Order: sequence, then structure tokens, then C-alpha cells
Amino acid sequence: MSKYANEIEKRRTFAIISHPDAGKTTLTEKFLLYGGAINLAGSVKGKATARHAVSDWMEIEKERGISVTSSVLQFHYDGYCINILDTPGHQDFSEDTYRTLMAADSAVMVIDGSKGVEAQTRKLFKVCVMRHIPIFTFINKMDRDANDTFDLLDEIEKELGIATCPINWPIGSGKKFRGVYDRNTHKVLTFSDTQKGTKEGVIEEIDIDDARLDDIVDPDQKEQLMDEIELLDGASVEFDQEQVSKGNMTPVFFGSALTNFGVETFLEHFLKMTTSPLPRVSDEGEIDPMSDDFSAFVFKIQANMNKAHRDRIAFMRICSGKFDASQEVYHVQGDKKMRLLQPQQMMAESRHVVDEAYAGDIIGVFDPGIFSIGDTICAPGRKFAFEGIPTFAPEHFARVRQLDTMKRKQFVKGINQIAQEGAIQIFQEFNTGMEEIIVGVVGVLQFDVLKYRLENEYNVEIRLENLPYEHIRWIANKEEVDVAKITGTSDMKKVTDLKGNPLLLFVNAWSVGMTEDRNPNLVLTEFSK
Ligand code: G4P
Repeated sequence: MSKYANEIEKRRTFAIISHPDAGKTTLTEKFLLYGGAINLAGSVKGKATARHAVSDWMEIEKERGISVTSSVLQFHYDGYCINILDTPGHQDFSEDTYRTLMAADSAVMVIDGSKGVEAQTRKLFKVCVMRHIPIFTFINKMDRDANDTFDLLDEIEKELGIATCPINWPIGSGKKFRGVYDRNTHKVLTFSDTQKGTKEGVIEEIDIDDARLDDIVDPDQKEQLMDEIELLDGASVEFDQEQVSKGNMTPVFFGSALTNFGVETFLEHFLKMTTSPLPRVSDEGEIDPMSDDFSAFVFKIQANMNKAHRDRIAFMRICSGKFDASQEVYHVQGDKKMRLLQPQQMMAESRHVVDEAYAGDIIGVFDPGIFSIGDTICAPGRKFAFEGIPTFAPEHFARVRQLDTMKRKQFVKGINQIAQEGAIQIFQEFNTGMEEIIVGVVGVLQFDVLKYRLENEYNVEIRLENLPYEHIRWIANKEEVDVAKITGTSDMKKVTDLKGNPLLLFVNAWSVGMTEDRNPNLVLTEFSK
């Protein structure tokens, strides 16, 4: 039994995934409110951070401090110590968004009840599935007219390929939203409009058979509810914790984050159903989070945008034991013992230096340029490496040309360093010997970041010429195929990455399928290990 079992067992580390505007920020605010971490909803992060346009790059730089602090939040609730990982959306969407999911033990998927499953949710969901982590669904904005509840569940099942198990069930939506029925307790939690959360609501819990319910729910709605419950109990699969833990079944909850309805119920159920820190796979097998020895891996590197300071912050997820700032650790990839400098954690609005942290926690440390994404840090005397973080498929591509050809050296150095930090991916044409570089990014803002940083940090001006490709595939069985002989569609392009791996670029999904059909021995993947 670990000395730190008490601390580790109460940790819950999860990411919130959603499409922009579904209500992720609002839900996070309400969580923090329940945890007493903030006093007033609305102070998690400036709206401006979430809403900037590509052209606002200078603004982003200014706001960088804000987005760093809000990327991980820790708070306490009901005996749990909760770490929420923010997955940036909008224009900030980048490979980091995907990498953040590598540090989470579970995910909360927020869906707008009037929109259903949207594009960004789908993308992030795929990464959760790859990791087999539990996924919990919160269908939000029930105070607005929502799609039919059965249709919503159907859509999740069909589009995402996961079984759903509604834990509660909405009674109406929009103006006719009356609350949710808890399928386990057979009680109705009545909705009360809190005027966007500014007023305390009077939420009542009424037994489904209680006559008082008839004052709140009109007869038609009651009849519909009873029919739906009967249908549900007869047709839907039963709750199965094991299937939830494996990521095969998602418990579904309904509510309205803005009016603070259904949030606490969700939080309470979720914390019980989700998992304490999970073991992580390393080259020495699984590392038990309860092990007394400290270990962690780097999942995100935040470059400092200030030219005068080339330092960075490396975010690491603690996987086992306890982090003690006064003790030395061992950086496996650098083969060096060291102290982690300026370790910090984010609690609600503030960032503070930490002396200790436990498995499940995320810390940010000062990085003078020694860490890479995926690096392992462990206790001195131990030496193992956690499984690497995959490279995710970029969706936007551009050819990069440097304007002053005399600066080739700085250009190559700069672009390589920025690629190593993981902000962009760089490719070269396959077998042509041409020196042209193609850049791939997950979110278009990264193009601006690249241009800005090359100019400011490396004094190199570039021009980016957009390319029409949207799909990239790694060749999983590259040893078995002759890349030169692959016959694809006319729009297909063969490239190689920094490590010399061959890849294929496509303009549309149809071409990917076509190429697979034409080359039956070819195995293509969307992630690269
Ligand atoms: P995001 O982080 O997922 O992008 O979404 P965010 O929480 O910022 O919410 C997006 C918009 O949806 C906000 O409105 C927010 O107030 C609203 N919203 C969130 N939850 C609910 C809900 O349960 N019901 C209703 N009716 N609206 C909800 P906005 O007008 O864009 O911003 P604001 O000016 O209200 O802050």
C-alpha cells in the first residue's frame, strides 16, 4: 500500500471536450463554483481569450498568460481533488488540444442539446477512444429548445460508436423544460430558472408518484415522460460500470449549465463513476500510480512568446507517487539528474508554486529548452520511458518559402526548433531532393504563430502558400511496401516527416479510400506512434 494512497485515491483528472459554444466554459465555471474555488461564476477566463480571430495574433500574445493559467485547474469537492484539463477550441485548436487528452484519465463531453454531435467533438472523441478512457456526456442547454432526446442518444451511438446509458431524463426543453427524472431514484429534480445563474434557484426533488408533480408538469408532459420511461427501461441497455470504465458506454446526463441546473447532480454521479489515476504503460510494463516512486511525462510545452526569454513551460502529468520539489528527479531522455525548476500548479484564477503534488496532478515547470513532448521524468535510480505521445494528423498544409535565401541556416534551425516543440509538423517532398518545406498544422492559428516566431526569434521572413490538402496518413506497414510504387489518386502527394517516415497527403477523404482500394497491401493510419 502506497504511503500516498489517501492523496492519490481522491484524485480525479479529466478533460472537457466539446465543440465551441456548447458550454464548456460555463460548465467549468459551475464546477469551480461548487468546489468553492471561485466565488462568482464568470471569472474563469476572459471571454476574449476564447473568442479571438486569427488576425488578433498580437492580442493572443498578450493574453498568453491568461490561457496558460487556465489550461489546468485544480479544485476540491466532496473529498475529491479534481484536476480539469482545458482543451482549447476555436482558433486556438491545435495539436496541444489532442495532447492534453493524453494526460487525462477520463473525459466529459459537453453537447449542445439543439445541435447534437458536432465536428470538434467528433475529433476529440476519436482520441479518447484511442485511449479507451471513460467518457461522460452532459447534454447542455436544455433550457433552449432541444432535439428529441431519443434522437440525440441515437446520434451519439451512431456517429461516435459508443453505447449510451441515460442516468437521468429531461422533461421537456426550452420554455417547457421542467427538470430531469433520475432513473435510479425515481425522483424528479425540478428546474428553476436562476436567471442565468445570478439568482439562487429553488430546486425540488419530488417523487415521480407524488401528486405535487402535477403542479409543475402539465398532463401531456407527464404522459410523455411515463411513456418514455417505459420505453427506456424496456429498450435501453443497463448501466454497466465495467463498460463505462473501458470507454464502451457513456453515461448521459441532461441539464443547463448557464442556469446551473443538473450540474451538481452530474458532478456527484460523475465523480463516483470515473476513475482515480490510471496506470500508464512504459517500456517496463505498467507503472502503478500507487507506487511510492515519483514519475511523470511531458505532454505539452508552452513556448514563451517574449523574444527576450526563450524559456518555456513544460507541462507534465504525474503518473505515480509524490512530487517533492526539494528532491532531485531523473530526466530519462536527457540522462540527467536535476531539480525541477519553479514547479507550479493552477488553482482557479491563480498560478502558484508547489512544493508537492501527487499522481494525477499536472504541474508546469520552467524549461530552459531541455524537455521534449513525451519525455519521462522519474525518481533517481529508476529508468524507464512512458509510451510516447502520438503525432496527430494535421489538417492544414502550406508550403513555406523564406524571402531572403541567404538566411537558409537560421530558417532551418528555427523551423526545426518550432517543430520539436510540437506546434507544427514539417514535411519534405518524397524522393525529389528538393529543399522545399511543407508545414502541417492542426489549427490554422499555428501558421501565424510560425510566421511571427520565425520573424521575431530567428529574424527570418517567410511566405506561406496554402496547399489544398486536408488529410494525411502515415503508412503503418512502411517496411512492407515500396512507397515509390504506391499508386494513388492524381491529387495525392508523397512526403516524408522529420524522421524520414513516408506519408501521404490527400485533398479529400474520397481519395484516401480510393488509394486504399488501389493498394490493398497498404495500411494507413491517422496517428503516428
Ligand atoms: P464554450 O466554452 O463551449 O465555447 O461555450 P461557453 O461556455 O462559452 O458558452 C457559449 C454560449 O452558450 C454562451 O453564450 C453561454 O452563456 C451559453 N450557454 C452555456 N450554457 C448554456 C445553457 O445551459 N443554456 C443556455 N441558454 N445558454 C448556455 P454567449 O451569448 O455566447 O456568451 P455570454 O455573453 O452569455 O457570456
